[in-house]
Amino acid sequence: MDKNNLVHNNSLNSRKYFQGINRKRNILITIFSVAFILVILTTVSILYFVLKTDSNSDDFKFENLISRDEWNAAPPKSGIPFLESPIKRIIIAHTAGEFCDNENECKFVVKRIQNENSHLDDIPYNFLIGNDGKVYEGRGFEKEGQHTSNLYGSNYNSIDFIILSQDSLVFNNIKSDALNEAVSKLKNFYPLQKVYRREEWGAANPKEAHTKFSQKKEIALLSHSVTQTCSSFSHCATIMKNIQRNHMGNNGWIDFAFNFAVGANGLIFECRGFDFVGAHFSALNSRSIGILAIGEFNEDEPSQEMLDTLEKFLEDAAKLGKLSEDFKIHGRQDFGSSGPGENIMKHIREWCRYGNRTTPC
Ligand SMILES: *[C@@H]1O[C@H](CO)[C@@H](O)[C@H](O)[C@H]1NC(C)=O
Repeated sequence: MDKNNLVHNNSLNSRKYFQGINRKRNILITIFSVAFILVILTTVSILYFVLKTDSNSDDFKFENLISRDEWNAAPPKSGIPFLESPIKRIIIAHTAGEFCDNENECKFVVKRIQNENSHLDDIPYNFLIGNDGKVYEGRGFEKEGQHTSNLYGSNYNSIDFIILSQDSLVFNNIKSDALNEAVSKLKNFYPLQKVYRREEWGAANPKEAHTKFSQKKEIALLSHSVTQTCSSFSHCATIMKNIQRNHMGNNGWIDFAFNFAVGANGLIFECRGFDFVGAHFSALNSRSIGILAIGEFNEDEPSQEMLDTLEKFLEDAAKLGKLSEDFKIHGRQDFGSSGPGENIMKHIREWCRYGNRTTPC
């Protein structure tokens, strides 16, 4: 009996003992389960917020921006180069003809501009803006445009805004006073010197492909044409075409020998431009930009406007990386040849950029 009692007591004790263990285990399991659920909930909510923020930034939309889809853009051709980030410059130009007043009209005009440029990789501009105040997405922020490539070259790290406007003038010299005033008030506005591009003055195409510059362009080398001088666009353009015929016909060169030309009135004409080596001075072609002053400047007087535009144009070029930052200006006569005439040289000698200055500037 005692033994039985003992056994009974023992089994009672051990049941209590096991019940104790079970209770502890249940509590632990509950704690772990709750913790586990909490961890899952926290993870899920963190993930949710991360994804939500992410998709929010994807959804970011500029006010008044009409996307390519919205104006029914055709897809771009492949291989358009990407722009370096951050973008350093914004070029503002205008269509000088196309104009629109409301969203439907503007979508139509933008689509037409894309169609008319089907020989290019895409619509040439990064963005367009209409008189309706809306911005139409062209190539956008990431891809290089094809807007000023003839003049300053394509590796230009800029995006462009094209204003859809009727005013008759080209490039960044906008004729409308109101538009000019508005643009000039933009923060960091920097007006570029206007240059007449080859197609504007009616240049013939080069006979062969040009050679790209591979050295630093340290010199702006001035010559004169020893022809009539000119003070209107049409007269300058006629002389330019004659000079080009002479260079390509009589002299048998592949193109106009110089990189740029300038009229006595200060009109600047693109010839080979900034990217291609000229044929104006054999010892210096590969590291200089050759500039032809139209006229005979031992006789003719350059206008102050001509000197000012030339100077500004060269400074612009240096700012845009198309000339070395520390470039010098020379006349051919500094290197034992002749030109660009004493009436130009007497002014150039006073410039800080003049390469043969005897006194520091
Ligand atoms: C002018 O400077 C260039 C480049 O430094 C030099 O080659 C040339 O001989 C100089 N000409 C004169 C006339 O001093």
